[in-house]
Amino acid sequence: MGFQIQSYQQYLDDYKKSVTNPAEFWDEIAVHFKWRKHWDKTFEYDWSKPETKWFIGGQLNITENCLDRHLASKADQTAIIWEPNNPNEKSVRVTYKELHSKVCAFANVLKKNGIQKGDKVCIYMPMIVELAVAVLACARIGAVHSVVFAGFSSKALAARINDAGCKIVLTADGGYRGEKTTPLKNIVDEALKNCSTVNNVLVFKRTDQPINWNDNIDKWWHEEIAQIEDICEPVVLDSEDELFILYTSGSTGKPKGMVHTCGGYMVYTTYSFQNVFQYKEGDVYWCTADIGWITGHSYIIYGPLCLGATTVMFEGVPSYPDYGRFWEVCEKHKVNQFYTAPTAIRTLAKHPKDLVDKYDLSNLKVLGTVGEPINEEAWHWYDDNVGKNKCPIVDTWWQTETGGILISSLAGVTEGKPTFATLPMPGIQPALFDSEGRKIENQEAEGILAIQHPWPSIARTIYGDHERYKNVYFSAYPNHYFPGDGALRDAKGNYRITGRVDDVVIVSGHNLGTAPVENAIDEHKDVVECAVVGFPHDVKGNALYAFVITYDKVSKPEQLKNEILELVSKTVGPIAKPDKIQFVSGLPKTRSGKIMRRILRKIASKDTENLGDISTLLNPDVVTEIIDNSL
Ligand code: PRX
Repeated sequence: MGFQIQSYQQYLDDYKKSVTNPAEFWDEIAVHFKWRKHWDKTFEYDWSKPETKWFIGGQLNITENCLDRHLASKADQTAIIWEPNNPNEKSVRVTYKELHSKVCAFANVLKKNGIQKGDKVCIYMPMIVELAVAVLACARIGAVHSVVFAGFSSKALAARINDAGCKIVLTADGGYRGEKTTPLKNIVDEALKNCSTVNNVLVFKRTDQPINWNDNIDKWWHEEIAQIEDICEPVVLDSEDELFILYTSGSTGKPKGMVHTCGGYMVYTTYSFQNVFQYKEGDVYWCTADIGWITGHSYIIYGPLCLGATTVMFEGVPSYPDYGRFWEVCEKHKVNQFYTAPTAIRTLAKHPKDLVDKYDLSNLKVLGTVGEPINEEAWHWYDDNVGKNKCPIVDTWWQTETGGILISSLAGVTEGKPTFATLPMPGIQPALFDSEGRKIENQEAEGILAIQHPWPSIARTIYGDHERYKNVYFSAYPNHYFPGDGALRDAKGNYRITGRVDDVVIVSGHNLGTAPVENAIDEHKDVVECAVVGFPHDVKGNALYAFVITYDKVSKPEQLKNEILELVSKTVGPIAKPDKIQFVSGLPKTRSGKIMRRILRKIASKDTENLGDISTLLNPDVVTEIIDNSL
């Protein structure tokens, strides 16, 4: 679209304009989209409430932008290349015309099942084309999708279904991931024992495994879709109508349902997709994320499809059938832009180099990373072996809450710097604060990151809990959005994200609050109390370390550890299982009873030289005991 930044000078000019005249800047971008009604005002915000609105009064349907708009010139162009888990199964190419037809047909299925504008739809599906179809079909009729990652447990699923009050669940009998098959439908059944709002479950047949069936609510996808019309006019929505809810972890046990709205999200994801990846007509772009995460929402589905790109969807995992799978897929589909997570890069770097070298990666032009800081070693491995030192690497910093990439280089346009996300996107005004809450004016500095001005795709609220939204994101520094990350700024204004400054730990690129893991462990009948912290891990980035107090002396530690792991797996999901569990007689606490996680983090990281003053603790002796027995 006509907003591709083509040179460093243009970036500088655009950036300047985005700060001095944001309304005009975004107006000129937003006009490239299809609106049913032009907006009356570009944006309005009051972060004391906090409230943010973009393209106010504008009307649109995002699927008209992702699908209908391309039919005149790109009906037969591939929209989605689907690559199955098993390389012996055929990959599928879905054209824009076919995707349009599938989305319209499934939108009619949703309508037939009583789903209307504003209704919440839970999607718990494997990475198959129907997942993208389901997402877009919701958007087509103004239903609000809540995609739950298909690796989450039944309890986590139930909590999300209940929080949003979902009316319907879209799932599959099972899902393939590497050697494993996940019994998705049975997990849904288990979850629904504790949900009262769901009227129907639509089940796509993927694995053909035996499942339970409840005639009152379960329906087969293929039966529903048979003989249904594939014409469905898009419902015209207000720019600020809800598009989706996506849950992310926070510092308390309850997941936060981040609410994204239609207009601003569409404009920003498309704009950032084109500019960060420098996508050109005809390119094949592959983001390896799961659609259960924001990266999949913004940069597999909405951004690429709005731009009319060809986007790859991969059902499998990087290790199956071997650790060369990513590169095999890059060769097979002649991938031009490849976007993955540092944890995947670190895992792959541990395997023989010929697993990369044996594939033709000459079509690659741009590499990207997301989800956690990338260490120097992994960055260079990626650059040398995958990019052959000729592909710019974009290290994209952003969050579920931000909707789109906020800090990143623009491939080949602005300069990259190993381990630095580098410069803010146009429209993004980062700032650093010190530990006393003062803004740091020096250019070269390290501090806590905050963002000063709204951008179109910022989440508007936490579903059902606006107060929490205010407390978490807008109370740290007046008139700034607080993302919860630390950062370092170099003399040229490049940002390097240093990691979380709260109780969220990024494990293998998954954003995990420590609180839900603690809650799960606390449920064990032998456990009095526990504390979970993160510690550096050379493949996962971070791993979890649990300090656990039990009622009685532990007689069978291995058995208890396994029971705890099982509980965490069931309650939160297998990704949240701690790597280390240490049984302790007490936890270091302040006199007001607060657990000193700072000390536990240091112990877990084997950095016990500078614990600071521990004499003010309620129980300083316990620290020595914990250090002596640490794992
Ligand atoms: O800590 C930052 C880290 O991931 C967090 C957001 O996680 P989530 O909402 O799950 O979204 C992940 C995908 C956008 C951030 O607060 N993070 C994300 N990208 C980077 C990063 N840390 C360092 N560098 C990045 N490029």
